[in-house]
Amino acid sequence: MNYFHQLEGLLERSYAPYSGFNVAAIVVTKTGDIYKGVNVESAAYPTTICAERNALHTAVTEGVQIGDISEVHILARNATKILVKAYPCGACRQVIAEQAENDAQIYSYTSASEIEQHSISELLPFAFLGQAL
Ligand code: THU
Repeated sequence: MNYFHQLEGLLERSYAPYSGFNVAAIVVTKTGDIYKGVNVESAAYPTTICAERNALHTAVTEGVQIGDISEVHILARNATKILVKAYPCGACRQVIAEQAENDAQIYSYTSASEIEQHSISELLPFAFLGQAL
């Protein structure tokens, strides 16, 4: 399914006054439920949260369990208001891999029709999923 129009609307809720880089993410579960997130920056810069983790944390808060997540859709816009392709940062890749049991597809949009797809295991090879803990 194509989430471009929903992501475009969601992008307006991103709070990124410091970087000007707006990101929207939609997490989709195997049963077709969706959870939304935007990046929320802070004047104390490191406390910023990415759109992807915001969506994932909301999904978990709403009851989504390990292995339920199947897709993450991402749209980003830079400070000059141009839509740009964004891949999840390293921290978000870790959280996606763990929550999706290393089995999810990541969709990076630059328009309604230009969508790059990668598996999470491609983006985060040799993931640390916690079995060794
Ligand atoms: N950001 C995300 O929300 N997701 C990404 O995939 C890359 C980075 C945010 C964090 C920060 O608010 C801004 O983009 C610039 O790094």
